[in-house]
Amino acid sequence: MKKLFLITLILASSAFAQVAKPIEMPYVDYPMVKGDHDEIAQQYCLICHSWGYVLNQGKKSRPYWTGTVQKMVNEFKAPIAKEDQQTIINYLVKHYGYEVTSGH
Ligand code: HEC
Repeated sequence: MKKLFLITLILASSAFAQVAKPIEMPYVDYPMVKGDHDEIAQQYCLICHSWGYVLNQGKKSRPYWTGTVQKMVNEFKAPIAKEDQQTIINYLVKHYGYEVTSGH
């Protein structure tokens, strides 16, 4: 009896899956600071996720942003040319980070 219930459940859920609407993820359009080639960051950094990922980090250092952009390219295969990576890093450090100053 238990088995029959399970089979019915499996059949019912697969039937449901066929009529279920596709799941749509809400896309949140976070504003980006304009200038310093924000269009390049827009072009590449919004391919896979929203700008919220950047905003969530708070202000970060140049080494952090360099490492993050490299991670996007090397680990997640973001198709960003070398010179564009540098432009994006500069944009991120200027508007979403800080330069590390030596000592003081
Ligand atoms: C090829 C897809 C892809 C592209 C393009 C991409 N990312 Fe990501 N990004 C990811 C994935 C996958 C994660 C990890 C998601 C998770 O862990 O939930 C991530 C996470 C992040 C995080 C969260 C912190 C971290 O280190 O995981 C930041 C910040 C970030 N991305 C910034 C960027 C920036 C800036 C760009 C543009 C240079 C960019 N991403 C482009 C795929 C991408």
